[in-house]
Amino acid sequence: MKTLPIRALLPGMVVEEPVYTSSGQKIVDADTTLTSEVIYRLSFYSIPSVNIKETDAESDNDNSAASIPNPSRASNPSYSQKIKAQPEFMKYQIEYTKLINSIRKVFDSVINHPELPVNTQKILDEFKALISMCRTTVDLLDKLHNMRLDDDSVYAHCLNVALLSRVIGKWLRFSPEERNVLTLCGLFHDIGKTSIPDEILNKPGKYTDEEFVLIRQHPLFGYKILKKLSIDERIKKAALHHHERYDGSGYPQKLEGVDIDDYAGIIAIADVYDATTAARSYRSPLCPFQAIAMFEKEGLQKYNTQYILTFLDRIASTYQNNRVLLSSGQSATIVMINSKHLTKPMLQMDDGSIIDMQAQPDLEIVKII
Ligand SMILES: [Fe+2]
Repeated sequence: MKTLPIRALLPGMVVEEPVYTSSGQKIVDADTTLTSEVIYRLSFYSIPSVNIKETDAESDNDNSAASIPNPSRASNPSYSQKIKAQPEFMKYQIEYTKLINSIRKVFDSVINHPELPVNTQKILDEFKALISMCRTTVDLLDKLHNMRLDDDSVYAHCLNVALLSRVIGKWLRFSPEERNVLTLCGLFHDIGKTSIPDEILNKPGKYTDEEFVLIRQHPLFGYKILKKLSIDERIKKAALHHHERYDGSGYPQKLEGVDIDDYAGIIAIADVYDATTAARSYRSPLCPFQAIAMFEKEGLQKYNTQYILTFLDRIASTYQNNRVLLSSGQSATIVMINSKHLTKPMLQMDDGSIIDMQAQPDLEIVKII
C-alpha cells in the first residue's frame, strides 16, 4: 500500500481502503478502480490523500495501465475517453472543483450575511481562469460534457449553466460586460434551491404534489435571497424568471414573451440543455443531438426565437466532423449539418457511403464517439 496525494492519482489505480469525508460519509469503497469521476469526487470533498494498492507488472490491477497505453484497449478509444485522457483535463477538473467550492462559499455568504458586499469580480476572475483552460468553444463544451458526475449539486449545475450562458452570449455577440452579467445570472440562477431541504431536492423517484409545489417555488426563493443585494437587477430577474416560458407555459408567474427578462431567456435555454445532457438516476445523459430533438419536440415557441435558433444551430455545428453512434448500432462521421433539420445531418458511413439522415426518419444520433 502507498499513500498518494490527490494530484498524484491516476485513472486505473485501485483504492486500498474505503475513503470517508471529515463528517464520516463514505464516498469511495475499498477496491474501487479510480476513474476521472472518482478522482474528481475525492477532490470535491477535499480529501488530502488516498491509500492505493501496490501492484506489479504481473498484477491484474497494474496501475501502469493507466499511463502506458494498451494497444488493444487504446486502439479505438471513445471521444469521451480521448478527452479524459488529455493531461489538461485533470487540471481542468481541479479548477472546476475549486470554483464549485467558491460558489458554495458565495451562496453561504449571500444567504447568511446579505449585508456584506458580494465580490462578483473575484468569482468572475476565477470563472475566466477556468475558461482560459479551454482552447476553443468546442473544447469548453467537450470538457463540460465530460464533467458529468454523480454529484448533482446545485453549485455544479449553476456553474455549468453559467459556462453555457457565457458561450451563448458569445454566439449572440454580446459585449464583454454583458457576458459578465450573463455569467453571474447563470451562477446565481438556482440559489433558491438551497432553501429546499436536501432530502426533497435529491429524492429518488417521484415527488409528492406538495413537494412538487415547493420545488416550483425555488425561483421565488432565489429572488427573495438576491433582492436584498446590491447586484445587477438582471441577476435577480434571471433567478425569478428562468422557468418562465415565452408561450406562458412556465412558472411561477406564467409570464409571456416581453414580460420575461431577456437574460433569463438565455439562462432558461442553458438550464434545460444542462439538465438534459446530464446523467440522471432514471436515465442516461442525452447526447447533444437528442437534446436538440428534445427542444424541438417540446416546442421552440417556448423560447426567445433568436436565442434558441442561434443556440441549436451552433450546438449542432460544433459536432460537424465528429464520429457518432446511430440508433441502428452503426457508427458514422457527420459530414454536413442540415440547417433546416439540425438532428438530421449528412453522414459518411464506415464503408465510405454517404447517407442523408433526412431520408431515414427513424434513424437517430444517440452518442458522440
Ligand atoms: Fe431552476
